[in-house]
Amino acid sequence: MTRALVLNGPNLSRLGVREPDVYGAASFDDLVSSVEKWCVDLGIEVDVRQTDDESELVGWLHEAVDTRTHVVLNPAAFTHYSYAMRDAAAQVTSAGLLLVEVHLTNPYAREAFRHTSVVGAVATGTVAGFGFDSYRLALTAVALRT
Ligand code: DQA
Repeated sequence: MTRALVLNGPNLSRLGVREPDVYGAASFDDLVSSVEKWCVDLGIEVDVRQTDDESELVGWLHEAVDTRTHVVLNPAAFTHYSYAMRDAAAQVTSAGLLLVEVHLTNPYAREAFRHTSVVGAVATGTVAGFGFDSYRLALTAVALRT
């Protein structure tokens, strides 16, 4: 069975509370439930995680390489400046695994600092702007390619 880690960066545990006008009213637990349900339908064994800690996220990307697990990654604010996370993400794709960058919002329609993704160039692909469905589309791509 295809395995995927769905990794979420800083502040995403605050969904539902955090700027609901931007990120919506649904909570992180709602996101986890949706992802787990979609993965049953897609035949993916999934583990959904969130951290505010850059080193923990880097460690999870190393784990993905070592366990040959595909990754769906919402790096949140780390998207825009974390070269450590970018270098860890590069190890995932260079190992022949899929890494799909996802965003709930469309960063290119927002503030200028969000227009740079340091991870995009080492990702397999990016899905942004579709709310929770960004994850669904990313997981569908993983299912189609494995
Ligand atoms: C985000 C977009 C980022 O710019 C922001 O820092 C986030 C969430 C998104 O999912 O739309 O925390 O990654």
